[in-house]
Amino acid sequence: MQRGPSEDLADAMTRSANYPLYVVTAAAGDETSGCLAGFVTQSSIEPVRFLICISKVNHTFPVAERSTGLALHLLGSDQRALASLFGETTGDAVDKFQDVRWSRGVTGAPVLAECAAWIEGSIIARFGAGDHEAFLVTVADGGAGSHEGRLMLEDVEDFQPGHPA
Ligand SMILES: Cc1cc2nc3c(=O)[nH]c(=O)nc-3n(C[C@H](O)[C@H](O)[C@H](O)COP(=O)(O)O)c2cc1C
Repeated sequence: MQRGPSEDLADAMTRSANYPLYVVTAAAGDETSGCLAGFVTQSSIEPVRFLICISKVNHTFPVAERSTGLALHLLGSDQRALASLFGETTGDAVDKFQDVRWSRGVTGAPVLAECAAWIEGSIIARFGAGDHEAFLVTVADGGAGSHEGRLMLEDVEDFQPGHPA
């Protein structure tokens, strides 16, 4: 087993991980925001809960802090362009919702029309998780989308995030 300096200890884990990508969206009043997210997991079966980690430097973060709910969209394998819009541009500079179809969900969060699957729910807890904040959400609504397959981390390894973490 190889060991190294403390900052390198997790390197083998993080470099070899591959996981599906999501778009997480939030709204506070008229302000909408959203970003591409990979740090997402189901965290409970009964009741179903999801844990979504949002970087504290993202435009999405202060909007999510003021939101009652979040919407989470699993992306299909053909949705690189949507992933680029939400992951390579920032709401500090562009309105990501101008050129995508969306509607208000039951919590007020923007629900995107195009995805593989989605859920929306209330934020019931949040806590600091390092340079990201973890948001625990319920499932109040959701369903399948029309896109097939899964967009994975390894499909977007050339992406430059709109914000450094
Ligand atoms: C592959 C990939 C995965 C990402 N995962 C996350 C994540 O889990 N959480 C997060 O807050 N940002 C994540 N980001 C970064 C944001 O999506 C990106 O910085 C975005 O431009 C921020 O937009 P905003 O400033 O409008 O919120 C990821 C970016 C990429 C390219």
